[in-house]
Amino acid sequence: MLAGRRIVLGVTGGVAAFKAAYLARRLVEAGAVLRVVMTRSALEFLGPQTMAAITGTPPLTELFGPDTVSPHTELAAWADAVVVAPATAATLARMASGESDDLLVATILAFEGPVVVAPAMHTEMWEHPATRRNVAMLAGDGVRLVGPVSGALAGGDEGLGRMAEPEDVVAAVVAVLSGSDLSGWKVLVSAGGTREPVDPVRYIGNRSSGKMGNAIALAAARRGATVTLVTTAPPPHHPAITVIAVETAAEMAAAVWGAAPHSDVAVLAAAVADFRPAAPAPTKLRRSAGPPDLVLEPTPDILAGVAALRPRPFLVGFAAETGPASGASEKVAAKGVDLLIANDVTAPGAGFGGDTNAVTVLTPAGAVEEWPLQSKESIADRLWDRIVEVRSH
Ligand code: PMT
Repeated sequence: MLAGRRIVLGVTGGVAAFKAAYLARRLVEAGAVLRVVMTRSALEFLGPQTMAAITGTPPLTELFGPDTVSPHTELAAWADAVVVAPATAATLARMASGESDDLLVATILAFEGPVVVAPAMHTEMWEHPATRRNVAMLAGDGVRLVGPVSGALAGGDEGLGRMAEPEDVVAAVVAVLSGSDLSGWKVLVSAGGTREPVDPVRYIGNRSSGKMGNAIALAAARRGATVTLVTTAPPPHHPAITVIAVETAAEMAAAVWGAAPHSDVAVLAAAVADFRPAAPAPTKLRRSAGPPDLVLEPTPDILAGVAALRPRPFLVGFAAETGPASGASEKVAAKGVDLLIANDVTAPGAGFGGDTNAVTVLTPAGAVEEWPLQSKESIADRLWDRIVEVRSH
C-alpha cells in the first residue's frame, strides 16, 4: 500500500502519543519508510526507544545539534508525506501561524508535499474559537485533517477530541499519496437549505448552514475533481468549484438535473423542503388580515430525478433523521442511491449548523457503518475515500 513511501511522522505531547507507536507500526507494515520527529513534550509521554525499535532509526528531536546543519530541510527534501499524530492544540496553532521554532514545524514549513494531521485534545480545547480558527486555516492551506473522534479522553473524560484510529490515519496517508485521486472526476454537490416563499418577505426554510455540503465540495476540489456546487449557502472558494446559487427546491432541482447527466458522482447533501406554499402571496401578508390559509404542495424530488437518469452518476444521498438511522436503511433501496449517509440531527454535535457530524453509512447491500462524531471536513474526506474505494471495484 505504501511500499517505499518516505514518511516523516511527527509526534507531539499528548496522552494519545501512545497511539503513535501503533500508527508507526501500521505504516511500517504497509511498507513505508519512517523518520520520526518527536517534540520535547512528546518525550514526556512516549519513550524514543519505542519509536526507534519500531522504525529502526532513533527519532529526531532537535532543530539544532552537531549531527546535521539543517535537519528540517533535509527531512523535508526526503519525505513524500508528513503526518502529525497526535497533534496537540499548541502544535496546530504553531502550524497555522508558521511558528517554526522546533524541528517538526520547521520541517512542515520547509515541506511542499501532503501533510496529514490527526488532532487529539480535550473537547473544550478542540471547540475553543482559537483552535477552530487554526483548524480552518490549516484546512484552507490544504492540510488533510483526520478526526478527532468522540470517545474516552485523558483523565476519565468523554467527548470529541480523541485521536482518530491509526487505521484511519493510514487510510488518509494512502489517499493523499495517491495524489489527486479524484483527478478527471466531474462531481456535483448540493448544499444548504432551500427556502420556499410564503410571500415576498417570508419563507419556509430549515436549519441547514451548507457546511456539510461545502466540506464535501471543497474536499473533492482539493483532491483534483471538477466540482459543480448547487447551493443556497455562502460557498467555499476554490478554482475548481463552479457555484450555482439557488434558493428554492424548484431552482435546486433545475440546477441539479441540468448538471447530473454530465457528472460522474452526485452527492446530495442539501436539506430540501418536501412541501412549499402552493400559491405564494404576491405582496406581504398583513397581520391585520388574520392567519393565512397556507396550502402546501409537494416539491420535486431531486434525488429521485437523478436516480432515474440512465446512465446516472454514482449517487450519494443524505438522510436527516431525528433519532437513530433505523428508517434510513429502507431509504437506501427506496431512493435508488449507491450510498446513503444518515445523520441524527438531534444528536449533540451532529447535523445542522455546527462544524461536526456523526453519520451512519448505509449501502444497498445492507452494510451499515458508524462514523463517530468528527469534523465535517473529516467526514467529507472519509466519504471521498469510500466513494473511490466503491467505484474502483
Ligand atoms: O448544512 P449543515 O448545517 O452542515 O447540515 C448538514 C445536513 C444535516 C443538512 C446534512 O448532513 C443532511 O442531512 N442533508 C440532507 C437533509 C435532508 O433533506 O434529508 P431528508 O431525509 O429530508 O432527504 C433525503 C435526501 O433526499 C437528501 O439527499 C435530500 O437532498 C433529498 N431530497 C429531499 C427532498 C426533496 N424534495 N428532494 C430531494 O432530493
